[in-house]
Amino acid sequence: MVVRGVHPAPVEIPDAVHALAGWYVGWGSVTPVWRNDLGGLTFRLQDAGFPPPGATTPGRPAQYLKWVPEGAPCPDPVAEAGRLRWVSPFTRVPEVVDAGRGDDGAWLLTQERAGISAIDPRFRDDPRTATRSVAEGLRLLHDAAPVASCPFLWTPESRTAALPDAVRAGIGEPPPVDRLVVCHGDPCVPNTLLHDDGSFAAHVDVGELGVADRWSDLAVASRSVVRRFRDPGLEAEFLAAYGVVPDPERVAYYRTLWDVVEHHRRRRRPR
Ligand SMILES: Nc1ncnc2c1ncn2[C@@H]1O[C@H](COP(=O)(O)OP(=O)(O)O)[C@@H](O)[C@H]1O
Ligand SMILES: [Mg+2]
Repeated sequence: MVVRGVHPAPVEIPDAVHALAGWYVGWGSVTPVWRNDLGGLTFRLQDAGFPPPGATTPGRPAQYLKWVPEGAPCPDPVAEAGRLRWVSPFTRVPEVVDAGRGDDGAWLLTQERAGISAIDPRFRDDPRTATRSVAEGLRLLHDAAPVASCPFLWTPESRTAALPDAVRAGIGEPPPVDRLVVCHGDPCVPNTLLHDDGSFAAHVDVGELGVADRWSDLAVASRSVVRRFRDPGLEAEFLAAYGVVPDPERVAYYRTLWDVVEHHRRRRRPR
């Protein structure tokens, strides 16, 4: 079956997703909302919504099903579930319903969070507000989640461990740590949800969340707002809203690290 969702290209719904959607919500609707460029797919699942006559309770809230086919170099949805459960007392993230693994892929099911992705067209007219909210959301996470008890790492060492020595050497030595925090791990604009008024609502997509220098997040988030909203002035806006002075050396290092790791991840993508 081919369905058109928010993503402009038609999306083939994998058989496994049909089976999971049937299992979780019966004959409800399955709407593709997102396809990442590593093969992962996200669907919004909604109950059929036929309450018995006279029922006063609305149908169940919608849920999001992220599906990662076997072999796709995306973060593991089951590992993401562990991170969501760990971080949920400290910041706003989706509640995990279930996660699992089958022969042809792995999945994560979460409750829908109120909020709209910061890349939604409604925020295009006010990119400064969206930019500030992305920064404020990261600041809330960095200030609230406890480094000492976080079991996950996202340091340059952990991120480059699987790379060939020559590639790792090419990235260079990390600058001294400015401040260790629990980083989001994929702090690009689509992974922040905003309220209708543009204020921060929640973080999604925390499959790489872990302890690292805060510039690991700030370097890529500040570049992401500039690219998404096509305005170089937003880098300064982002850093001011987060509450930090620019640090060109750490920004350059962590952007290079990100680009090299992503380049190698893409080379692992099965065709
Ligand atoms: N629980 C949720 N509540 C609301 N929106 C969600 C939820 N989970 C995912 N989304 C939406 O789906 C998109 C894709 O999910 P995400 O986890 O970011 O997948 P990917 O790893 O492919 O980027 C998000 O950008 C967000 O808009
Ligand atoms: Mg995402």
